[in-house]
Amino acid sequence: DTVGKTITCKAAVAWGPKQELKIEEIEVAPPKAHEVRIKIEFTAVCHTDDYTLSGQDPEGVFPSILGHEGAGVVESVGEGVTNVKPGDHVMPLYIPQCGECKFCKSPKTNLCSKIRESQGKGLMPDGTSRFTCKGQQVFHFMGCSTFSEYTVVADISVAKVNDKAPLDKVCLLGCGVSTGYGAALNTAKVEPGSTCAIWGLGAVGLAVAMGCKAAGASRIIGVDINSSKFDIARKFGCTEFVNPKEYEKPIQDVLIEITDGGLDYTFECIGNVQTMRAALEACHKGWGVSTVIGVAGSGQEISTRPFQLVTGRVWKGTAFGGWKSRDSVPKLVDQYLENKLILDDFITHTSTLNDVNNALHLMHTGESIRSVLKV
Ligand code: APR
Ligand code: ZN
Ligand code: ZN
Repeated sequence: DTVGKTITCKAAVAWGPKQELKIEEIEVAPPKAHEVRIKIEFTAVCHTDDYTLSGQDPEGVFPSILGHEGAGVVESVGEGVTNVKPGDHVMPLYIPQCGECKFCKSPKTNLCSKIRESQGKGLMPDGTSRFTCKGQQVFHFMGCSTFSEYTVVADISVAKVNDKAPLDKVCLLGCGVSTGYGAALNTAKVEPGSTCAIWGLGAVGLAVAMGCKAAGASRIIGVDINSSKFDIARKFGCTEFVNPKEYEKPIQDVLIEITDGGLDYTFECIGNVQTMRAALEACHKGWGVSTVIGVAGSGQEISTRPFQLVTGRVWKGTAFGGWKSRDSVPKLVDQYLENKLILDDFITHTSTLNDVNNALHLMHTGESIRSVLKV
């Protein structure tokens, strides 16, 4: 029985920027009040893990335990926890839902601010860490830290999901897939019969395509400089493709031509400020809406001529697809179980946590869409 005791287990520790993660024995303290200790079963690898490891993330702190697309089983809970119990199948959520803050009370946003400050510092809400390694404090990451056999998260950062859901698949709903799918459905609110274009056909872009298809879009154009992504993108709903490398003129001009004046909805799923501009300018005059999903490097800025907005194009952005996390993730899991959304086809590689550096490498080189690791 481990309840109330420190657990010694394996984790991938990020000791410093640009260093390979190291599999270490760590200690995980028991959950305090309103905290939950989770046995992580599976985790995927996402660009934000890589971004923070690169040292460019201004909030990045080391040593830390990265990972935020995970799923597992509750081992024990701290005092006052009522939303989950030991044995529950759960997913940690990097955007919590407290239900009480100004943001949670607004139907217009999902950006719960309750623990934003401590989470940004790599700490639990009380300002301390539950992880130690070799006598040294190790920081949390995005309120999740899924690259560990055990983790501790705030109770407002946990969603209980259907026991029947395969955790090696639904872990993808912890970030990229939910983000893209929700961007189409919640943020852009794509309408039946509309035309859409998606920049970047990684996991996020493919999930956007799935959302546009679910919304009944008539044309879904995939835009990627890597044409090898086009085959799989058809499975997710893309109806046609454009590779900007095959054209001399700006890609927005090409798209405006083939869509009789521009698109109803565009999505940027790369994190490049040039393609963000192209996506906005490819929108139809009068009503086109462009949604920024990709995360640009820190310090980057976007630009366009204000005339683009004056003439009715709208620039939007979204985090975690606008989903109110605790309300929505269990429903998305159920949608997967009802075959209403695809997860399996995102997974191009599977391995174990020991292989996490290779999984990061495969993501970096664009070889993988998603790697899922058994923890
Ligand atoms: N024009 C068109 N496509 C591009 C360009 C470009 N200039 N640069 C890159 N791409 C394509 C790549 O070929 C790749 O297919 O964008 C795709 C990005 O996919 P992934 O690297 O797999 O990224 P993904 O996991 O989908 O995340 C997309 O969202 O999470 C944020 O900022 C994060 O950059 C990440 C983005
Ligand atoms: Zn809140
Ligand atoms: Zn992510």
